[in-house]
Amino acid sequence: MKDSFNREIDYVRLSVTDRCDLRCTYCMPATGMCFLKKTEVLSFDEILFLLRNLAEQGIKKVKITGGEPLTRLDTVPLIKAIKAISGIEKVTLTTNGIQLARYASALKAAKLDGINISIDTLDPDEFREITRIGDLKRVLAGLEKAIEVGLPNIKVNTVARGELTDEEICEIASLAKANGIHVRFIELMPIGLGKGCPGKTQEELISVLQATYGELKPFDQRLGNGPASYFSVTDFKGKIGFISALGHCFCADCDRIRITADGCLKTCLHMDDGCELKYALQTENKELLLEQVFSAIQKKPEKHHFLESQGDSRLMSQIGG
Ligand code: GTP
Ligand code: 5AD
Ligand code: SF4
Repeated sequence: MKDSFNREIDYVRLSVTDRCDLRCTYCMPATGMCFLKKTEVLSFDEILFLLRNLAEQGIKKVKITGGEPLTRLDTVPLIKAIKAISGIEKVTLTTNGIQLARYASALKAAKLDGINISIDTLDPDEFREITRIGDLKRVLAGLEKAIEVGLPNIKVNTVARGELTDEEICEIASLAKANGIHVRFIELMPIGLGKGCPGKTQEELISVLQATYGELKPFDQRLGNGPASYFSVTDFKGKIGFISALGHCFCADCDRIRITADGCLKTCLHMDDGCELKYALQTENKELLLEQVFSAIQKKPEKHHFLESQGDSRLMSQIGG
């Protein structure tokens, strides 16, 4: 499938739930979240019907997101079933890692192709402050287990909050030193509660890292599906990546669409451009589904307008990230 800017669309980011077992301050309010009803969330069969049809149209890569995808009880069987769809080459998962120690072996057995784990700080008290209820020990145990069972392509996601100290930046980056894990710093995007949160720029981070670790050399190969640009550091087995939607806009290479947990197709993270697929999926109406998908992709915008317009008013956990 090609959009009107001749970009090949072969990647779907699929949110399987809007629920989460953390409450990160830049993502969700402390209380009063209004979650989707179970009947509103796409079912196992609806997801498979959707992805089988998208795979026939050239979708090759699927990223499972949330909320927190491992709060959904059938996520592992779902991954297994998606892996079996003809045409789907890579299925990867983005998780907060809280339940990862429990699921790592099953994910490996399901032949997951890669896993991104969110770790915003290595300080347990600060982790609790950011996530409001999270226990860093559990996430680190999850990361360790993922390495132990041999899950491939493990990456750590760190949101580049303004509060990050130079020491913390270097400490988190050092996770890429010994194990071959890649560490990516994500520029804070003005979405939901992220609006107005102070953040660090890619240039600020690089300058801090270079002062400690020496030159960061651009690494031209693509690692994974996403928009990160990577750098090599002497003596580091893994790479350091940056995802900087504002500072280093990557929209020209955009190859993806998003499906929210309730079956809304979004062609851009930022835009308020949902197209409801739930009815077509519930009724297994292939013709209607494809008509909706093609029409949405034709309207995919050239780029985000984070700085100029309000965009989608939903929270990151409701969109799927
Ligand atoms: P891999 O390369 O497979 O690891 O994928 P990824 O880096 O895209 O996956 P992940 O789910 O870890 O996303 C990391 C960050 O990139 C999240 O904050 C996403 O919201 C952001 N991101 C992914 N795709 C886009 C995009 O198209 N636009 C914007 N603005 N952000 C994106
Ligand atoms: N800006 C940047 N990254 C964000 N994430 C959640 N909200 C934002 C935001 N406003 C991150 C999560 C996770 C990844 C999927 O997206 O922390 O690492
Ligand atoms: Fe949950 Fe991720 Fe949002 Fe944190 S950022 S509350 S882990 S969905």
